[in-house]
Amino acid sequence: MINKTIVKGLNGKITVPGDKSISHRAVMFGALAEGKTTIYGFLKGEDCLSTINCFRDLGVQIKVDQDKVEILSEGISSFKQPLSPLNVGNSGTTIRLLMGILSNINFPTTLIGDSSISKRPMKRVIQPLRQMGAKIEAKANDNLTPIKIMGTQLKGIDYKLSVSSAQVKSALLLAGLFADGITTITEPEKSRDHTERMLSNFGVEVNWHPDSLKISLKGKQKLQAKTISVPGDISSASFFIVAATIVPNSDIIIKNVGLNPTRTGLIDVLKTMGASITVENIQGEGYEPYGDIRVKSAQLKGIVIGGEIIPRLIDEIPILALAATQATGTTIIKDAQELKVKESNRIETVVNELKNMSADISSTDDGMFIKGCSNLKGTRVDSHNDHRIGMMLKIASLVAEGQTIVDNENVINISYPHFNQDLKSLLE
Ligand code: S3P
Repeated sequence: MINKTIVKGLNGKITVPGDKSISHRAVMFGALAEGKTTIYGFLKGEDCLSTINCFRDLGVQIKVDQDKVEILSEGISSFKQPLSPLNVGNSGTTIRLLMGILSNINFPTTLIGDSSISKRPMKRVIQPLRQMGAKIEAKANDNLTPIKIMGTQLKGIDYKLSVSSAQVKSALLLAGLFADGITTITEPEKSRDHTERMLSNFGVEVNWHPDSLKISLKGKQKLQAKTISVPGDISSASFFIVAATIVPNSDIIIKNVGLNPTRTGLIDVLKTMGASITVENIQGEGYEPYGDIRVKSAQLKGIVIGGEIIPRLIDEIPILALAATQATGTTIIKDAQELKVKESNRIETVVNELKNMSADISSTDDGMFIKGCSNLKGTRVDSHNDHRIGMMLKIASLVAEGQTIVDNENVINISYPHFNQDLKSLLE
């Protein structure tokens, strides 16, 4: 069991697993393309395996060998009606993007998931899809699973998103890809743009610019099969970036981490707070840039985090909250109400579990308020079946006095099956 007294610092090099968002999309786009798509560096976590299983149930041939995936498809028109409901497990990306794809198909489908998915809002995708002509039904006033999709020919729309969500944006772009006419989406703030980048890579004409909030594409386009290399997931790396920052005497390198600017908000914020982070060997410009991240221990200071940076670090807020407990002064996280509809209500789960460990933290309507330099105390805490809460608590145990036991820790397999091995290697 790890606790502060036995941790001498994190040292060494690790390579985090493939990016979850990009792995999902690579499977989906490979299934939609005609020919053979090969994916290297695929994240073999439970969420991305749920995506593979759904496409296998739709009749697509997919071979998985470690982190290499081969997809053989003849495109959307070759999909077969599944024999039972498609089960997305815990994966919000799978269900929302599939809704966009399946709305255009000429047979009915039903989407189900686990108990966390059954609480997450789907109306944000259903409403605009209906405007495109989709025939969809869902529970609880069109919001919750199971989702029944009849399948019909859609038409393009011009739609302004009310929340900045890459899942909703991507669902609508995928629906627009097979619809009649043009689909244009405008976001309130820039969310991750992996769909736009990968569609271009698969030969689709997308009107899009990395700095623009507007994306449009013409329907009835074909995707060409591709070879895709998935960079390491910066959201997975973030746990070790924070760990090396807050544990004294640390100096680590994380290799081949995805550096798409829509995902690097955590690095920007930690640097402003005083972290020692350098990025080296940047490659892959244009498609999905990646590089090596070196992190050394540093004393952080509290800041206010809010506004347009929030979508660039939305999944990193649990680990950022832990970093703030070790910073001098106060950190305020605001404009982050989306946290309430993630795998758990992350405002509630982060605040309650860190409070259990004696942090000075309280929730607000759109974020949290954290007073710094807490002496955390080890105790029994719970992941609430949320992978990012589980990993954040494991890192918290490194700076806590006494023993920390994380209940329901296995949920970490959703996005980072080798998390514990990587952590152990940095502590040796
Ligand atoms: C994701 C988008 C984000 C993020 C999620 C993955 C994606 O969700 O939190 O982990 O792959 O598109 P929202 O679209 O709900 O913001």
